[in-house]
Amino acid sequence: MSAVEPPLALLAEVTHRCPLQCPYCSNPLALERPANEMATADWLRAIAEAAELGCLQVHFSGGEPTARRDLEQLVAGATAAGLYTNLITSGVGWDARRLTALIEAGLEHVQLSFQDSGADIGERIGGYQGAHAKKLAAAKTVREAGLPLTANFVVHRQNLHHLPEMLDMAVTLGAHRAEIANVQYYGWALKNRAALMPSRAQLDEMTAAVAEARKRLEGILVIDYVVPDYYARRPKSCMGGWGRRFLNISPSGRVLPCHAAESIEGMAFDNVRQRSLVDIWRGSEAFNRFRGTAWMPEPCRSCDRKEIDWGGCRCQAFAITGDAARTDPACGLSDDHARLVDVAVTEADAGADGFIYRRYGAG
Ligand code: SF4
Ligand code: FES
Repeated sequence: MSAVEPPLALLAEVTHRCPLQCPYCSNPLALERPANEMATADWLRAIAEAAELGCLQVHFSGGEPTARRDLEQLVAGATAAGLYTNLITSGVGWDARRLTALIEAGLEHVQLSFQDSGADIGERIGGYQGAHAKKLAAAKTVREAGLPLTANFVVHRQNLHHLPEMLDMAVTLGAHRAEIANVQYYGWALKNRAALMPSRAQLDEMTAAVAEARKRLEGILVIDYVVPDYYARRPKSCMGGWGRRFLNISPSGRVLPCHAAESIEGMAFDNVRQRSLVDIWRGSEAFNRFRGTAWMPEPCRSCDRKEIDWGGCRCQAFAITGDAARTDPACGLSDDHARLVDVAVTEADAGADGFIYRRYGAG
């Protein structure tokens, strides 16, 4: 294999504790208990190693990362190592004083998640009454502190009709960027797929609304749009390719090629407490398993897109077929694609609306 390029960014999932219980949470079903979380010193070492490896950015995520009382220390460590720092937060559980401390430690950007444009649906999805007002206050605090803000909206069948209101809200809050991300179905979201899956007609409507908003809000708001895989003709380049651009550290120190990698049964992941990050990135079996193109089956192996989408998503291939080494079923060339579309159409038509909430022990 040719020399392994350095990653761009580290996603530091510092805790799985969170006041919210979103049914599409990207955390694994087996949430990490607080007692297993890495100590401050281990996180600081891992962050310094990420910088040594060539990472440029660290995204502090969770759960809710501010649940860790030492977050300021971790941000300061990342800043000292020369990394750009971003906080990915629910906006619940912290105030202006905490944000000031984080900014003093070097925090440069905040990405704030919303479950909808209003409290009714948003609080039902997040499973937390009163969350919406706290999120609006958090956005105001971020902007008053002069930090750039990205508003993140995860969209699905139960809230996508509010897309125009979500974008208007992002503008009103002074966000520079809005991320409209359709649910990706692994882990908790896979469990709740029947309650979340949009129909193709809804998706087309949403895509048209995004195109219209991009024109209308040009120069005011940048809109990122992640389409749902189930109706795609070709898959996304998940994580920019396995082990190519990103790495993720779980609360207890397991180093993963993507946030959902632990959903793939039978794979073992090294822990940064036992092995250096540099060593894991370059030499671990898990990172090398689906790196590059040598592992690919047909039709990927002879496809001219294989170095564009890198065969799509390994976690989705596993979730749908039970084999992470198959072509992503989101690809129209995959033998499993028809099955995927069939599931989407059937579940969207059935219209279930009950959630299994993300909680310790519920997975
Ligand atoms: Fe991508 Fe493989 Fe589909 Fe080609 S066959 S478009 S490489 S997933
Ligand atoms: Fe794991 Fe796509 S989410 S490879």
